[in-house]
Amino acid sequence: MNPTDPSPSREFGASASGRLTLVRGRGALLWDALGRSYVDLGATHGVGNLGACPPEVVSAIEAQARELLYLGSGYANPVRAAFIERLLSLLPTSFGSVFLSNSGAEAVEAALKIARSATGRTRVVAAMRGFHGRTMGALSATWRRELKEPFEPLVPGFVHVPYNDVAALEAAVDETTALVLLEPVQGEGGVHVASGEYLRAARSATERAGALLAFDEVQTGLGRTGRLFAFERWGVVPDLLLLAKSLAGGLPIGATVVASEVVPRFRGSHHSTFGGNPITCAAGQAALDCLVRERLPERAERLGARGLESLASLPREKVREVRGLGLMIGVEFREKVAPYLAELESRGFLAISAGSTVMRLLPPLVIREEEWEAGLNAIAEVVDGG
Ligand SMILES: Cc1ncc(COP(=O)(O)O)c(C=O)c1O
Repeated sequence: MNPTDPSPSREFGASASGRLTLVRGRGALLWDALGRSYVDLGATHGVGNLGACPPEVVSAIEAQARELLYLGSGYANPVRAAFIERLLSLLPTSFGSVFLSNSGAEAVEAALKIARSATGRTRVVAAMRGFHGRTMGALSATWRRELKEPFEPLVPGFVHVPYNDVAALEAAVDETTALVLLEPVQGEGGVHVASGEYLRAARSATERAGALLAFDEVQTGLGRTGRLFAFERWGVVPDLLLLAKSLAGGLPIGATVVASEVVPRFRGSHHSTFGGNPITCAAGQAALDCLVRERLPERAERLGARGLESLASLPREKVREVRGLGLMIGVEFREKVAPYLAELESRGFLAISAGSTVMRLLPPLVIREEEWEAGLNAIAEVVDGG
């Protein structure tokens, strides 16, 4: 088998041929079909917080697969109930209920429906450079024009305000606003960290206007930013918390966590066939246990600080800015990032982009210190040589 796929792909939506083919993983290492290893600095797109094939999660999946693969949501199931309880036990007591689905976009869609239904309003305030997924509602909340334009008209009622601009946010939120939807750190938009002042202003403005506040923690969630949930850093608690990616240790999942106060205000119904299936819930329970027991948020904080320190010495004539929180780091170049990513890949390190000029680092939180140091050194060499 060829380690890069030479043929035009028949996978709908896949990029052109020449993609690296990866077949196996363990921790922060991934292997191609020829047995060559790569360090994952972002290849698992924020899903692999526990690394590839975390043993505890794999065991939980195996055990649950022998018990019950699937059950409709019309029936109770102890594995689903235990997972929901475990998730809620890690959150402020203001949260009282969880809607389980299968992806980040679905977690966002549920939030949009809950906000419309609970407030009787339709206007949503989101941020410029924000990314919330590619279904019609989530895409409407997303900023980048080129992602949206071929599919218009999208859902009406969305406005986008500059990120971290308190005055613009306050001016946009009024008594017609159903929801303010923000990422505490914008991921796809280039790794931009919210200020505490901005998130606090979002909380006060939504309270004043009777709107709901949702934090999209699909990418920041579950330890990546140095806290289990990024909002903990600023102590600003939203009404709706959106999770996905790493929540089930690598299996598809989405979760919309809803404040107790909002739950009785929801009218109508919302449902997903595979949401809350026992296999994913068993994996999620094991993943949460592992994150907490291994203190992975603290590890992300420590390794992230080391990363920011090392990357700060990259030459300013090539690198405009280095920013991030925990193990969510963006390196913004003054030119296109693609050649740097290709050179890193040829040296056995897989990072990803966020837009055309930002290198995004989202390594597993379990990455070994020597792998992380090797990755940071490789980035320095590649930038020096570029
Ligand atoms: C912040 C954020 N929200 C939502 C999504 C959409 O998640 P999914 O691709 O699972 O639908 C993403 C995906 O990258 C994301 O980063």
